[in-house]
Amino acid sequence: MFSGFLQKRYDELFDEATIKGLSKPLLQAIRVNTQKIPERELVRRLSKKGVSLLKIPWLSCGYFVKKAPFSMGATPEYLLGHYFIQDPASQYACEALGPKKGEMVLDMAAAPGGKTTYLAQILKESGAVVSLDINKDRMKALTSNIERMGLSNVVTIRMNALDAGSLGIKFDRVLLDAPCTGTGTVHKNPEAAKKKASDVSNCTALQKPLLEAGLTVLKKGGTLVYSTCSVLPEENEQIVSGALKRGFGLKNIEHGAPALNDMKGAKRFYPSVHGTQGFFVAKIQR
Ligand SMILES: C[S@@+](CC[C@H](N)C(=O)[O-])C[C@H]1O[C@@H](n2cnc3c(N)ncnc32)[C@H](O)[C@@H]1O
Repeated sequence: MFSGFLQKRYDELFDEATIKGLSKPLLQAIRVNTQKIPERELVRRLSKKGVSLLKIPWLSCGYFVKKAPFSMGATPEYLLGHYFIQDPASQYACEALGPKKGEMVLDMAAAPGGKTTYLAQILKESGAVVSLDINKDRMKALTSNIERMGLSNVVTIRMNALDAGSLGIKFDRVLLDAPCTGTGTVHKNPEAAKKKASDVSNCTALQKPLLEAGLTVLKKGGTLVYSTCSVLPEENEQIVSGALKRGFGLKNIEHGAPALNDMKGAKRFYPSVHGTQGFFVAKIQR
């Protein structure tokens, strides 16, 4: 199932149930767009059509889809932007960043926009989310998702986030949902099971300077969330520990399993435990 490199690494890091869980199918999850529809009203409308939803207790407006008689990406409610299909751990990264009304938020690697649209929703039409991505095709998905969700407080810029300093803006909050090997997404992307050591080093070579660039544009007292959908410590704890060595602190993340390498405060999510993709979240304070 896994490449020789991943199997060896997983045997060193995880128990059997955790490794098995990495490839098992997961329930789909949605996030209600409370800017467009009250939560209760959407639940009522979808239940009438036979969709069975289960509220996720550790999220503010997230639901597991237990049963749906049709594709959740092909309903009028979906097309009207009443909800976003989004993994619970991805939703949680935005809640952990915790933007407050009126703040300036930077999303450094934003496409296709799952997190940008949630950050803008949390800001409730106030402040602004500046959303960067380097990939032209993925930018199209980002802008169409922002439009579908009906959000007016987002600016999108196609650029290399390593150059975020050239924007000349200091941000209250920064999200770096870093490009990664995606080893936590094997349940929907079997290719991610084939990753080799060289794939990991290619990712870490970008993750380190991206985190540097994000910390540079963060206001004093500001907060940066670093997240990935990889379960490898090389792309997570080891990247964040670089910032800690330079004097930055970690704020505690409430939900999730403890991070590896004795890193206090950062959290991990596993399919076998949380019913989410494999995911890592750390909250860095400037
Ligand atoms: C994990 S995905 C982001 C998913 C997104 N945050 C969401 O929730 O929908 C990583 C993104 O990083 C982008 N990316 C890779 N290198 C980049 C760079 N140097 N600057 C900006 N974006 C980059 C990729 O195009 C990709 O869209």
